[in-house]
Amino acid sequence: MSFRNDFLWGGATAANQIEGAWNEDGRGPALTDVTTGGTVSEPRKITFIGKDGKPGFITRLEKLPEGAHYAVLDDCLYPNHEGIDFYHRYKEDIALFAEMGFRVFRMSISWSRLYPTGMEEEPNRKGIEFYRNVFAELKKYNIEPLVTIWHFDTPLYLEEQLGDWKNRELIPLFVKFAKTCFSEFKGLVHYWLTFNEINNTINFLPEDMDDQYYQDAYQHLHNQFVASARAVKIGHEIDPDNKIGCMICGITYYPHTDDPKDILYNRYKWEKGIFYCGDVQCFGEYPTYAQKLWNEHNVKLDITQEDLKDLKEGTVDIYTFSYYMSQSVTTHKGEEETKGNMSIGTRNEYIEYSDWGWGFDPDGLQYYLEMIYDRYKRPLMVVENGVGAYDTVEEDGSIHDDYRIDYFRKHIASMKKAVDNGVDLLAYTTWGPIDLVAASTGEMRKRYGFIYVDKHDDGTGTLNRSRKDSFFWYKKVIASNGEDLD
Ligand code: BG6
Repeated sequence: MSFRNDFLWGGATAANQIEGAWNEDGRGPALTDVTTGGTVSEPRKITFIGKDGKPGFITRLEKLPEGAHYAVLDDCLYPNHEGIDFYHRYKEDIALFAEMGFRVFRMSISWSRLYPTGMEEEPNRKGIEFYRNVFAELKKYNIEPLVTIWHFDTPLYLEEQLGDWKNRELIPLFVKFAKTCFSEFKGLVHYWLTFNEINNTINFLPEDMDDQYYQDAYQHLHNQFVASARAVKIGHEIDPDNKIGCMICGITYYPHTDDPKDILYNRYKWEKGIFYCGDVQCFGEYPTYAQKLWNEHNVKLDITQEDLKDLKEGTVDIYTFSYYMSQSVTTHKGEEETKGNMSIGTRNEYIEYSDWGWGFDPDGLQYYLEMIYDRYKRPLMVVENGVGAYDTVEEDGSIHDDYRIDYFRKHIASMKKAVDNGVDLLAYTTWGPIDLVAASTGEMRKRYGFIYVDKHDDGTGTLNRSRKDSFFWYKKVIASNGEDLD
């Protein structure tokens, strides 16, 4: 058998994409609560009221105008407000996960459910109670929670009033939140991830942004590195059994041609996009090439001696990552481009693409696993992998999602090869075991789940859950510990 006996099979989600109940029981707003739905070609919009009292919107990389305040506007639809209503339906959803045989469920804790603005001294007890109930429900079925502390949802107050993560003041506020999680959920949770896809801040920043953007982005990352390291130290102090990981958005980069300039550029993409964060979080110090990256944009970081000590002392126990696609990159102009997960590469003729332009490449997963394991020599977890696709509900209610089965079959087979080649892999959590609100586009029609949720982009639907064909297939995979992929 390839996978270890205690291999953790399961699925992964994020609070803001499933919970809903955005303003219930004392929860404060996050940026996703002022973000509308979009499509593959129409970006999501962030809404505000300007200083002249007029409504307006910006997109992801635009800055809030002077004097404006984020706001929920009457004539806009905000898909994350309701999510898939996990807040009220978690028992039904966890029972379905248990029916598939899940051994792990990855979820995140909404910061603003525990600290509505981020500034409070004491946590919101209703929020704590909700997560305790969820963990108790998971325990009933022997499903281990894998908890992400931050999954793209800083309280809106901190974004607006403190200027988000480029401000160091967020470090102690996050540490307070993380400490609350470790102590309140001690014994209920053993696996933690500090920041989801921490590398997106730099990796998805277009190369032609001006120096100030880069200055802010690298400082944002530095502050998150320090916050993560301090959280790791505290997490270990509170419960030495805690295993705490980093979480990197894993993309396997290939040079598009054999032009030596492309080979060098490919290495640059790995360093800047993938290794930069993993190196700091696993080795506890900045790599040599960091200076080169900072120089490119005249970046001068505010780094204290205390920060350097914390980074050294707060390295992670496990390396975890998401993997959806590979990307070919080139220095040559005029190549056909393809967009996936907010990043752009050139079209690779050897792989297929989803309707959202994400390149399917199971071999890229084996490559990533083996390369990363050799670099860090730490146990790995694949904590996101999946395909967003249009599903059709047949008249009898069945959903024949053979394309999803095919995607998972190939990726699990690839993971198996890496394990057979010596990679110490602890877990596999597919992204979106249940349909949820897509992060990049805010859509419901981009479906990931084994479980269908009757909810649509115009906000209609019963929210009823049903099983797709892939539900029964994954159940078989788990029961055979990854041996039966037919
Ligand atoms: C990852 C994120 O980037 O990709 C998830 O961690 C996200 O939050 C997932 O949902 C899939 O992306 P999308 O945009 O299709 O939801």
